[in-house]
Amino acid sequence: MDKLIIEGGRPLHGEITISGAKNAALPILCAGLLAETPLTLTGVPALRDVSSTLKLLDTMGVKVTRDGDAVTLDASDVASFEATYEMVKTMRASILVLGPLLARFGTARVSLPGGCAIGSRPVDLHIKGLQAMGAAIHITHGYIQASTLHLPNRRLQGAKYYMDLVTVTGTENLMMAAALAQGTTVLENAAKEPEVVDLAECLNKMGAKITGAGTDAITIHGVERLSGASHHIVCDRIEAGTYMVAAAMTGGNVTLNNARPDLLEAVIEKLREAGAEVAHTANTITVKSNGKLKAVNIRTAPHPAFPTDMQAQFMAMNTVAEGVSTVHETIFENRFMHVQELQRMGANIEVQGNTALVKGIDRLDGANVMATDLRASAGLVLAGLVASDETVIDRIYHLDRGYEQLEEKLTKLGAKVRRSH
Ligand code: EPZ
Repeated sequence: MDKLIIEGGRPLHGEITISGAKNAALPILCAGLLAETPLTLTGVPALRDVSSTLKLLDTMGVKVTRDGDAVTLDASDVASFEATYEMVKTMRASILVLGPLLARFGTARVSLPGGCAIGSRPVDLHIKGLQAMGAAIHITHGYIQASTLHLPNRRLQGAKYYMDLVTVTGTENLMMAAALAQGTTVLENAAKEPEVVDLAECLNKMGAKITGAGTDAITIHGVERLSGASHHIVCDRIEAGTYMVAAAMTGGNVTLNNARPDLLEAVIEKLREAGAEVAHTANTITVKSNGKLKAVNIRTAPHPAFPTDMQAQFMAMNTVAEGVSTVHETIFENRFMHVQELQRMGANIEVQGNTALVKGIDRLDGANVMATDLRASAGLVLAGLVASDETVIDRIYHLDRGYEQLEEKLTKLGAKVRRSH
């Protein structure tokens, strides 16, 4: 298992370029299944989850070509409509093929995603939404067996559907399904994440008729067919947020290119509250700090509120900030896996239910720690950057799922970090 070895105590200086957003790329790659002619995407990040998705599409018969950050998908000859357990267990976002398969081919057999480190991760709202559009869905042997062959013209029917919870991939799956449905669909209590907006923009370029993405009510007028288009993936706001916290914690001065401050308002506000200086243009963000930060209270919630994907990073920051803070996780039931690892580094954290009480200390101790999930691992990297001596993070394949060229980018900013195999 690859490990990351970090020598703490070096302020980060310089500039790096933020990659395309993992959580926009994954649904948009799956949207390729909807098109009758090739879809070309640029700004696609080189991540494990992207490779896994491309492999899944390839097994279905999609012709995948990749040239650097450009990917072309030709779904004119799809022969299989299945996402197996082996595939889905390595990446739960494979559930995002369900809506497109059903919309275009009228049939899908997708393994139920298991839970993961951060929670049980049910997909009941995805299923209920598709059933509201007329899909016949049976769960057998751990698989979602879905069909529209009993419907008029074998097509999903537009419906009005209120989602009990704000679900990002649920909104995305149903938006893709509705794009080819007969009639109009309205998704209420929809997720407003920028990645949902990017998917809608791509679908509209393909001929879909979607309005309201980015608000809590999305209207989709179904069309007969979708064709290929060219689309550039939106930048990754969580990767950007992670490096912003790294700059603030290490007392550095870092500029991020291809970063959109308008997607990170809650994070920018919290960093300023902690005492970091944040300046920006439309597509760059600069963070400066003397490394002496004040602890800030965090409460995660759906966009545009503070993102759950930035919770572990801010907890790491709070462990060495001045004062006491609370970190309240409202989205996932078990997203504190980083706590016990930070405690091994000397952090003073007490967890009560889904709230952590963090008392800032002067310095963390370098230690051997274990990555458990993508963003918890990011929190441990940040802790390692400021800890004394050396921190060794094991199981960093979690990091490779969501951070493109992590050690190269950190090294460029002056960190002392290396990967050991
Ligand atoms: C997406 O996951 C992201 N993944 C997650 O990022 C992110 O943390 C999450 O949204 C929240 O912002 C991708 O976009 C690929 P949800 P998703 O459905 O869609 C419950 C990362 O680090 N729920 O918005 O799976 C669910 O249990 C990953 O990049 C149901 O109960 O999250 C959770 O409590 C981690 N039933 C809440 O809703 C459902 O049918 C929000 O989950 C669906 C969700």
